[in-house]
Amino acid sequence: MKLLLLPALFLTVNGCLRIFGKTATCACKTLKIDRSNMHENEVKDNALYDMVLATTMKAPEILIDDCAVHVYCGGGSELYIFDTDKGAKIGDYTLDGSCDPSQQKWQLDVGNGIEQYTVLKAVCALKGTENKCYPESPAAFLFAYSNDLDYSDVEEVYSRFIYGPVFYWEKYVIVATSRFDTKTKEEIMFFENNTLGDSYRAASDYMNKTRMDPSQRFDSSETGSDVLDMLERFIDSDHYSVCASRAFIMMKRSPNEVEISKIVRKIRQWRIELNIAIEHPSSGGLHPETMYNLAAKTNGYCSFAPEIIEAMYTLPAMENPFTHYSLNIKVSGTGTMVLPSITLPQTMSLELYLAVQTTTTSFQNFTIRYVNTNGFSNSFSRNREQHLRSGAMDGYESNLNSFRTVRFLPFAEASTYAMNLEYSYSMEDTILFRLSSNTPIDDWLPFQD
Ligand SMILES: *[C@@H]1O[C@H](CO)[C@@H](O)[C@H](O)[C@H]1NC(C)=O
Ligand SMILES: *[C@@H]1O[C@H](CO)[C@@H](O)[C@H](O)[C@H]1NC(C)=O
Ligand SMILES: *[C@@H]1O[C@H](CO)[C@@H](O)[C@H](O)[C@H]1NC(C)=O
Repeated sequence: MKLLLLPALFLTVNGCLRIFGKTATCACKTLKIDRSNMHENEVKDNALYDMVLATTMKAPEILIDDCAVHVYCGGGSELYIFDTDKGAKIGDYTLDGSCDPSQQKWQLDVGNGIEQYTVLKAVCALKGTENKCYPESPAAFLFAYSNDLDYSDVEEVYSRFIYGPVFYWEKYVIVATSRFDTKTKEEIMFFENNTLGDSYRAASDYMNKTRMDPSQRFDSSETGSDVLDMLERFIDSDHYSVCASRAFIMMKRSPNEVEISKIVRKIRQWRIELNIAIEHPSSGGLHPETMYNLAAKTNGYCSFAPEIIEAMYTLPAMENPFTHYSLNIKVSGTGTMVLPSITLPQTMSLELYLAVQTTTTSFQNFTIRYVNTNGFSNSFSRNREQHLRSGAMDGYESNLNSFRTVRFLPFAEASTYAMNLEYSYSMEDTILFRLSSNTPIDDWLPFQD
């Protein structure tokens, strides 16, 4: 508790102010804030508000005794207070203040003096969650799909998530769904059930009811997909489960946008892992490479295939929510390069996800080799013919532009692994090299442009 030195004028023995011998009532306003009402109490152009918005928050304790107020958090969180147009960090301390009944305004000891607040809105932010969430933060699994796809394919893809993996999803706590590429934009649905299993089933029932709406399809193949707008609305929903979530996005239509810096910034800030599955050829839109570039800049992944279900097979599995290695590699012609090594601090299994090209034309072949400090080595190769024949399910899955293998570093010993890449391309392109695991990472990987 901080020592409180309020103007004695306001307090009398019974806690009320006496003006002209008459007892006035203290009725200053307070409001407990948490994630559920933070957005509707926005403080415009306030950096402190923006900062608290991205934290894990809970409502504080507010004790009112006549005109006196005490507000505190406890439990490893710090107190922030806001008025309609300003705010202050109180931190670990208890906030003390009193209501001035003549104005019905708070006089609050904000640490460096007394300030007047019209409304005392108080919120607790969990320490260490400022400006970020953690790789292990409980988050949403967003299942988003274009209205251009066949519903039976989307249903099939969704049903694959239940086989076993749903029980390994500890990181994910809620399913959200979104149908995009519709003339009238549709709400993003968060299924707030008691368990992840119930949320999964509630989402399934909802999608089975709404299916696809052909009357809502865009009339022209020149109309671009509104997938970027959908992602922005997912983030702006401000749902607690957005930060550190995984967005699984099934597309058939390409966006028309090329300029993506704003959405890249948002996805990075909210640490959303993009898993993009694209059915090829597309049903419209001009720029398929936009999604690939978006995945590249956000440590995400992007896979093209003739069938959406096949595109899913080379995307990071739900059992592997943690990306331990993420590299975008610019390649052109034929060459060999040394890749940054990876050091495993403990035994773990890492699966390899490699998106070899932006479109579906340039890639010829690749070989990845690694050797660890104990001399253990292995290699993986793929050529163009193997990519064009997609759909194999033998632990070395390929698609038009991507490859994954569960056998990259299974039960790998703690060691440093030196890696190199041999490649052949007919044009300049970018490889997305990702290693994912169910072993958590301590902190997020840096992003690449
Ligand atoms: C999920 O919650 C909704 C809304 O409360 C409810 O109507 C639905 O029956 C629940 N579904 C499951 C599978 O529990
Ligand atoms: C979808 O709904 C139909 C009835 O409209 C039902 O027969 C079918 O079992 C449902 N499918 C799933 C996967 O829930
Ligand atoms: C990769 O492709 C290039 C060019 O077609 C060829 O010269 C090379 O032998 C191929 N490498 C492998 C390992 O297939």
